[in-house]
Amino acid sequence: MADRVRRHPRTEAIWTQLNTAMARLCEVSGRSRLDVVDLGGGSGTFAVPLAELGHRVTVVDPSPNALATLHRRASDAGVDAEVAGVQGDAAGLLSVVGANSADLVLCHGVLEVIDEPDSAMAGVAACLRPAGVCSVVAAQRYAAVFAKAQAGHLADARRLLDDPDGRWGPSDPLPRRFDEPGLISMLTSSGLQVVEVHGVRVFTDGVAGSVGDDPADVAALAELEIAAARHPAFRAVAAALHVIARRNPA
Ligand SMILES: C[S@@+](CC[C@H](N)C(=O)[O-])C[C@H]1O[C@@H](n2cnc3c(N)ncnc32)[C@H](O)[C@@H]1O
Repeated sequence: MADRVRRHPRTEAIWTQLNTAMARLCEVSGRSRLDVVDLGGGSGTFAVPLAELGHRVTVVDPSPNALATLHRRASDAGVDAEVAGVQGDAAGLLSVVGANSADLVLCHGVLEVIDEPDSAMAGVAACLRPAGVCSVVAAQRYAAVFAKAQAGHLADARRLLDDPDGRWGPSDPLPRRFDEPGLISMLTSSGLQVVEVHGVRVFTDGVAGSVGDDPADVAALAELEIAAARHPAFRAVAAALHVIARRNPA
């Protein structure tokens, strides 16, 4: 089984933390094959590589189109037997996957789009086995302030700064964005213990498009993202926060 996945600069830092967390989980559990739930896993950009690493992955997502793409992608990769796609949503997670059933739950890019993020996190915590781990990626408010200001949308930037939900107004497509204390508080209120917090997509969303044309630049950007994720100072301007949290063993 491969022990590591490397992908795109947008997700490189996430994979770095995820690989470390999975290695620890395998060590503690004594198993090399983990039961993974990918809540809002969509078309399988994480689920399929995880299955290629040898893990069993259940994607729970309300979008039939995304699930159809997931099945195609899993089939193309030869891992259809390891990937299950279930149409469902965060509110019904426990009824789909069951309590105490997962070693690892991914919740990437979901908390900022759903109706009730607090109860979704409680569901995530409940479906983890004791000492199981969740990987949460959520949009970060202050990066959006920077992006709006740099694009010259100063009134939107100003509203984003103080809006209780981190939105720029009624036309904002996202229902909310998080700051670090708010996200941590949500996870700890769900009974999870925060292990690590990293900032992700510190640079990728803002670099010149031409960087994508040169493989050496892409590799350099990926390395830069990994390095920046380790610096707490960059969290405040990262497009998203990545939190690794654990359910208490007892
Ligand atoms: C921004 S995408 C993230 C996809 C994937 N997790 C990733 O990181 O690439 C948000 C995903 O959340 C799903 N979603 C939307 N509402 C949801 C809900 N109530 N419960 C679970 N997933 C939801 C969407 O269908 C979509 O696949």
